[in-house]
Amino acid sequence: MNTLDAIKARHSTRGFSDKQIPDADLEKILFAGGQAAVGGADFKSLKLYAVQDPELLKAIDESSAKMRPGSHPLYGAPTLVVLASKESILKNIEFTNAGCVIQNMMVAAADLGIDSIYLWMSMYGINNDPELGKKLGFPEGFTCVGTMALGYEAKEFPKLKADEQRIEVTYIK
Ligand SMILES: Cc1cc2nc3c(=O)[nH]c(=O)nc-3n(C[C@H](O)[C@H](O)[C@H](O)COP(=O)(O)O)c2cc1C
Repeated sequence: MNTLDAIKARHSTRGFSDKQIPDADLEKILFAGGQAAVGGADFKSLKLYAVQDPELLKAIDESSAKMRPGSHPLYGAPTLVVLASKESILKNIEFTNAGCVIQNMMVAAADLGIDSIYLWMSMYGINNDPELGKKLGFPEGFTCVGTMALGYEAKEFPKLKADEQRIEVTYIK
């Protein structure tokens, strides 16, 4: 798939099957995350965790659901990639870095035929329960700045994406 096709193919998946993604693909996706632009090249301020332990996924799902009782914010995904950050050398750049890292990974996943979704809810779920940070192995000073679920769509869901520009553009020549 060429890059523009992968960008177009990426869409948010809100219902995953149990089928796990291949380890080799997960490695490629995480590599794509590490290839992202990061402010000040401060790569040491970031850490990636690939979670496939069903018990830990359940605990993150439950903690995240506290904001919306009865929901499953992880949508049953068999893999959750968690991005943690400590304070960067550039003030307030952590969430911008997260956007770059996670978008790279979602596009790489689309290229490999793997479905994904950027999840803000589970970031709150992780940060609101210090035990989860410990279970994930965050070093002192690190908090979650973004998460991304990976897997295969359980069924066809209506897509929000249309083959059109979704953000208003102004050309100034
Ligand atoms: C930073 C960020 C956080 C998001 N968090 C959530 C979330 O917690 N739950 C969810 O269902 N979708 C979440 N989304 C997905 C957006 O709702 C989705 O990208 C948007 O509706 C556009 O649809 P598309 O991704 O299919 O193009 C998030 C997206 C971004 C960029």
